[in-house]
Amino acid sequence: MNKNDKLETLWKVGKDFLGVDYPIMGGAMSWISESKLVSAVSNAGAFGVIASGSMDAPLLLDMIKKTKEKTSKPFGINLIVMNPHLDSLVDVCIDQKTTHVIFAGGFPSVDIIKKLKDKNIKTVAFAPNLSLGKRLVKNGIDALIIEGSEAGGHIGPVSTSVLAQEILPNIKDVPVFVAGGIGRGEILVNYLELGAAGVQIGTSLVCSTECIAHDKFKEAFIKASARDAQSTQQVDNDFPVIPVRAIVNKGSKDFLDFQKDVISQYKEGSLSKYDAQMKIEHYWVGALRKAVVDGDVENGSLMAGQSVGLVNSIRPCKEIIEELITQATEYLSK
Ligand SMILES: Cc1cc2nc3c(=O)[nH]c(=O)nc-3n(C[C@H](O)[C@H](O)[C@H](O)COP(=O)(O)O)c2cc1C
Repeated sequence: MNKNDKLETLWKVGKDFLGVDYPIMGGAMSWISESKLVSAVSNAGAFGVIASGSMDAPLLLDMIKKTKEKTSKPFGINLIVMNPHLDSLVDVCIDQKTTHVIFAGGFPSVDIIKKLKDKNIKTVAFAPNLSLGKRLVKNGIDALIIEGSEAGGHIGPVSTSVLAQEILPNIKDVPVFVAGGIGRGEILVNYLELGAAGVQIGTSLVCSTECIAHDKFKEAFIKASARDAQSTQQVDNDFPVIPVRAIVNKGSKDFLDFQKDVISQYKEGSLSKYDAQMKIEHYWVGALRKAVVDGDVENGSLMAGQSVGLVNSIRPCKEIIEELITQATEYLSK
């Protein structure tokens, strides 16, 4: 592809940090970001990230090996901080000479960051606000991702545009990647101009040819508009629900009735508060797998960001990535 000088200047920090042509991270998506998608994203010149989810060390090792068979380009590993196997997963990353580890679902300890950095592995974590972002930098993290509430999957309460204004002008010591709601190249340029090193996308890659998600999962994405991707609803403040953005389906509607039923059992005295909260928290366990792997798009979780409204067809990763670059380049050439 033709290189655009302005773009090359704008995203140089991100390119150098990731070691890629395009500092676009293919955000880890549980059950989805496995060797085929990750290698396709990296082979397209962007940066694939393996979702380790609840994997243990042998499973992650196998996934890294399979990915290396399909690409010689850099890719990262997403580790969930609360995974009970975290320490052994970190060891696998070190043994496999992984270049980048991306922490999610919490904050990595100073010791884990140091252990990886001592082995020349770059560490990345999500910053939900400015003060926690600054603390991560102080703890030695090499780069940050800020992810707004437009994103698919588990989300925070603040939009991408507001997080970008809060964090990009105020954290300059490490590269910051912006995620959530990015579906076109023009917005990628806007975030780079505000100081981002690059971006992370998830929803836009689900309908890639290489993505192993069930055809019905992809069909749901193609049919959905932006307003169909909604955050999980909570019926009672005393029973908090972890916010997840997903395409509304029968499962999400049933979840409302389920919460009401469980809460009334608590009020009648047949369930303790703890048991009621646990029942609510466990409702969605296994639901993403059910939709992605089994194709149960009625009852499973159709995690998707609002940019799902911009997803209209199934295409190779290379085409999806290159379209973003073309849009960015044309926008900068105006
Ligand atoms: C189906 C799905 C599963 C996801 N799973 C994970 C995950 O396991 N770990 C993680 O850090 N982020 C996860 N994410 C978030 C993505 O990595 C990425 O940050 C997000 O999709 C970017 O926003 P976008 O969806 O608006 O492009 C998931 C997103 C989706 C849509």
